Amino acid sequence: MTLASSPRCLLITGGAGFIGANFVHHWFQQYPNDRLVVLDALTYAGNRQSLAPLEGAANFRFVQGNICDRELVEQLLREEPIDTIAHFAAESHVDRSILGPGAFVQTNVVGTFTLLEAFRQHWYSLGQPDTYRFLHVSTDEVYGSLGPDDPPFSETTPYAPNSPYSASKAGSDHLARAYFHTYGLPTLITNCSNNYGPYHFPEKLIPLCCINILLGKALPIYGDGQNVRDWLYVQDHCRALAMVIHHGQPGETYNIGGCNEVKNLDLVQMLCDLMDELAPELPVRPSRKLITFVKDRPGHDRRYAIDATKLRTELGWEPTVTIAEGLRQTVQWFLNNRDWWQPLLSAEYQDYYQQVYASSA
Ligand code: NAD
Ligand code: TYD
Repeated sequence: MTLASSPRCLLITGGAGFIGANFVHHWFQQYPNDRLVVLDALTYAGNRQSLAPLEGAANFRFVQGNICDRELVEQLLREEPIDTIAHFAAESHVDRSILGPGAFVQTNVVGTFTLLEAFRQHWYSLGQPDTYRFLHVSTDEVYGSLGPDDPPFSETTPYAPNSPYSASKAGSDHLARAYFHTYGLPTLITNCSNNYGPYHFPEKLIPLCCINILLGKALPIYGDGQNVRDWLYVQDHCRALAMVIHHGQPGETYNIGGCNEVKNLDLVQMLCDLMDELAPELPVRPSRKLITFVKDRPGHDRRYAIDATKLRTELGWEPTVTIAEGLRQTVQWFLNNRDWWQPLLSAEYQDYYQQVYASSA
């Protein structure tokens, strides 16, 4: 009997966000007998529409609430037979962490602590069942920035976070690690590279470019556009997370990455060419004319790259979607789902956009 063969009940925090929503859909399709409870505060980044196909399903429950609310978390642990926490909830955007770091410390550090502490007490009260798991979903950004010839980040690369976002994620990783070593709580940590795909909030680079091309707006490239990110299609990430929950070793960290290092400028040019091919009507053609270099992000990490050897050799995971195929699917998704993203271009979004880009255009 493996963990994968018995029905589970997952508390998925941040399940209305980009990766969380993709994870909920993935899990629901793969393990339809499991019960899923989503806890999400519905911040600017949370969108209940992303979970609309599941509303009304008997084994799905959505709870709007904050992971820092200890009473609510304890209530959910009492009410539901939760044996697994898949913890996605976070403030996740580096640019927002530069504008206002406080919310990042609160949600990412205090929120993770609140969940760990509530889960630990619950787990103790039940006699420390060995099938329980706490998956802490984190980022490669905790490792800092690579030079052009440095080897990719491995699980033993020292932490060197450079932004308030990555520093707060690093703090939460350390707490998850400490809860295993001190209390034996079966935590698992994953550090993943940049994701892309459906339900990605419009202010991140790839959706921002897709949408701005459709609107005929400038495509802002920070600095010289030579920063490198290792892009992973979100569904490959979700598959990896399911494998880690079912087969990962408690107390271990697993790096997840796409082996898809791309410079920002090259990525945006690929998006422009795909849009020119797939979108019937565009205000500006060719879309590359919209590319605009703007002031660099303060402290902008130059390069991220992941060595996912451990996940491949120990759990048999491989990315399956190439960057060319994944970007094509993503562009098509944004073309087909205007009803999803149009309402997100709200007054709050415009205000944020002004703050980040107005002074740099
Ligand atoms: P996101 O910003 O799209 O979604 C975050 C979700 O968390 C939203 O639904 C939001 O409403 C919710 N949330 C925020 N604060 C909350 C709180 N206090 N209580 C309850 N819910 C709250 O983020 P994402 O891109 O889906 O990232 C999910 C996780 O994956 C994060 O922990 C992030 O650090 C990590 N990660 C992201 C990437 C990436 O490329 N996006 C890569 C690696 C790791
Ligand atoms: P982002 O999607 O914010 O992810 P992260 O900073 O977490 O890697 O940005 C991806 C890359 O694109 C990053 O190097 C910053 C850059 N970028 C731009 O050049 N212009 C933009 O408008 C944005 C949002 C990002």
